Amino acid sequence: MSTQQSDIGLIGLAVMGENLVLNMESKGFSVSVYNRTAAVTERFAGGRAKGKNIYPAKSLEDFVSSLARPRKAMIMVKAGGPVDAVIEQLIPLLEPGDIIIDGGNSLWTDTQRREKALKEKGLHYVGAGVSGGEEGALNGPSIMPGGSEESWKSVGPIFRKIAAIVEGEPCCRHMGTDGAGHYVKMIHNGIEYGDMQLICEAYAILKAAIYPTAEEFHQIFADWNKGELNSYLIEISEQIFAKKDEETGRPLVDLILDKAGQKGTGKWTVGNAVEHSVVLSTVNAAVEARILSSMKTKRVAASAILPVWEAPPFTGDRKQFINDVRDALYASKIVSYAQGLDLLGTASKFYGWNLNFGDIATIWRGGCIIRAAFLNRIKEAYEANPSLENLMLAPFFTDVFAKSQAGWRRAIVSAVERGVAAPAFTASLGYYDSYRSARLPANLLQAQRDFFGAHTYERVDKPEGEFFHTNWTGQGGSTASTTYNA
Ligand code: 6PG
Repeated sequence: MSTQQSDIGLIGLAVMGENLVLNMESKGFSVSVYNRTAAVTERFAGGRAKGKNIYPAKSLEDFVSSLARPRKAMIMVKAGGPVDAVIEQLIPLLEPGDIIIDGGNSLWTDTQRREKALKEKGLHYVGAGVSGGEEGALNGPSIMPGGSEESWKSVGPIFRKIAAIVEGEPCCRHMGTDGAGHYVKMIHNGIEYGDMQLICEAYAILKAAIYPTAEEFHQIFADWNKGELNSYLIEISEQIFAKKDEETGRPLVDLILDKAGQKGTGKWTVGNAVEHSVVLSTVNAAVEARILSSMKTKRVAASAILPVWEAPPFTGDRKQFINDVRDALYASKIVSYAQGLDLLGTASKFYGWNLNFGDIATIWRGGCIIRAAFLNRIKEAYEANPSLENLMLAPFFTDVFAKSQAGWRRAIVSAVERGVAAPAFTASLGYYDSYRSARLPANLLQAQRDFFGAHTYERVDKPEGEFFHTNWTGQGGSTASTTYNA
């Protein structure tokens, strides 16, 4: 039995893991660490952890015995098999009441499976989304833990101590049971994909019309960051435009290959939206844009074959156009968050998590990649009306749409006129225009389905639930409609 009795332990000393450990220790916690490769543990112990209240365990047995009961063992390893492997190694060493925490980007259904299996052994399992990258892990992430109330009592105080703080409030609250934490993190990542794509489309639309230099883009984003678009992603984009390549002296952003990567959380989000018949068109556009960007070779080949589009010269007011694109970015962002929250609400009911949108918006205000002033507006919207049907319907946001939709439409018209792909902007506007339309062209679609498949339709002048079929061609008798009751 080790004499060391650490408040918490962490397995997996990649940069995220190391930074979380240093953050915990800096807040007064004693931390045990273990890495499968002993040399990694030794390097950390002799380097960044030197002289700190951090215990470098020599084995997994040594790691577990160095933890104070109820033991809290946090895993920071690659999602999937590696997490299961570490859990299997830990199980025989732990005792009932102990807690395993997975701080990686695990699929929430894996978390639900693991939590259920470990509960049968008297162990707690907490799937905790940790957002903010390496910098956030060190200086204050946003943490979205799931798991049981009992485990929250034990790990919550530590997480709330190391999380980012906004207006005195830690960016960490208990999200809900079993996989709720990892699910909320997945939605965060989906929204992050949407935010990043929308920013890229704003950049593309401006570039195609008024050709700002990187320095001018730096200034445009600096201006935007002072207003309602104030956010981490706008802030880092502002800095990205100012960065010069050391080799050539050119703006580094102009030298970066236009092939986007994606580890998969955006795809998971879109897949789950389809499963639940929730519209997530902006995030879906973002995921597809990443896929299309990765098809670089095909796009270069096609660019020499597909007819080009000669855009008319820009004749508008430059400043007004920049404002139009800003309006389009803000309005589209509201739509994307409305869609993401719609999916959160659907999943909350489906899984029985009782997710609290005010809590989620509160802990997304700081530490995480989508942190933004805008999240205060979302928090206020749900505090004013917890049963808000859709974020877009909150008075604050309907007012934003009233002021910004003209610019939003002009920016998209410019993209279309100049042959600039703006899938996320157009998906957002399409959702807005569909959602606000009392009548859509689905009447024709229903007629088509009834024509070829006798799938029946309802009528606007008859009670809902009464279905009709029409013999559209008159073959085999009358063309009269037949009435069916659902
Ligand atoms: C965060 C980020 C992070 C993300 C990676 C890779 O919240 O800190 O969302 O968890 O997974 O940055 O993301 P993609 O490869 O999917 O873009």
